[in-house]
Amino acid sequence: PAEQQALKQDIRQLLRQEDAVLVAHYYCDPEIQALAEETGGCVADSLEMARFGRDHSASTLLVAGVRFMGETAKILSPEKRVLMPTLEATCSLDLGCPVDEFSQFCDQHPDRTVVVYANTSAAVKARADWVVTSSIALQVVTHLKEQGKKLIWGPDKHLGHYIQQQTGADMILWDSACIVHDEFKAKGVEDLKKVHPDAAILVHPESPDSVVQMADVVGSTSQLIAAARDLANDTLIVATDKAIFYKMQQAAPDKLLIEAPTAGNGATCRSCAHCPWMGMNELRNMRDVLKTGSQEIIIEEGLRQRAVISLDRMLTFTP
Ligand code: 13P
Ligand code: SF4
Repeated sequence: PAEQQALKQDIRQLLRQEDAVLVAHYYCDPEIQALAEETGGCVADSLEMARFGRDHSASTLLVAGVRFMGETAKILSPEKRVLMPTLEATCSLDLGCPVDEFSQFCDQHPDRTVVVYANTSAAVKARADWVVTSSIALQVVTHLKEQGKKLIWGPDKHLGHYIQQQTGADMILWDSACIVHDEFKAKGVEDLKKVHPDAAILVHPESPDSVVQMADVVGSTSQLIAAARDLANDTLIVATDKAIFYKMQQAAPDKLLIEAPTAGNGATCRSCAHCPWMGMNELRNMRDVLKTGSQEIIIEEGLRQRAVISLDRMLTFTP
């Protein structure tokens, strides 16, 4: 519609005017992903968003995603202005891991190395020894295990359990989950597989163990997109946020992509698997923040300096 076109035109112009670049996650609405690509920004997983924002020369980053992604960008680039379409866009994992409680939990196990998922507040990152995203978690934990370290893992219990199974590392898990991925049902995937016996099953590791166990490929958003391109199967059942289908279909134009069910019977639920906080990113609020400079991420410098240590460990890690 004409209104959308006008908003996009305003955003293109404001990005140039404000020396800003758009950094978007694969779970943002397709029109935002397309705009990021078209304007020289990036669409990526949470690890690549962090790298791209840190390395880009723009003085303003407009981060379309959820709050921890904007905070990560600011921690890595304190000299840049980091705006988000709305600071209300949080994440159930971040909400499920308040720093005081998590810190107490860590204090009870002082002999353990603290590894946290990137989906956490700056304060939790500051308490941690390592930050990881799902695309690098297995390699980092394997490395720590080889060094003989015992670990605390937070906050996602499903990802933690998956990594524990894969690496055999000694890990104590914090008890939290992603409200989107936690809804995928093994029974529904099983029923769907009966209808499409040749389909491959692609699963993000924030999903429950029963679903992960059925997977042909388990991986981060970027790893699932790469798998969609590379697998020989013509049909793919995908258990992650449905906004990923925009890039996944580009990567695998001739394949049939089917949403994994969030209900017990094999019927796909067309509008279920979409992160409500990712959905808060809209063209309108993107335009507004570029105009007004509101919704800026601010992190106290002392906290930032503590949080950047665990984040830098991840970014400089080579397996
Ligand atoms: P990725 O690091 O795989 O992009 O995951 C981020 C996320 O929030 C998944 O729910
Ligand atoms: Fe957080 Fe889940 Fe949303 Fe990812 S999909 S941002 S883990 S609530």
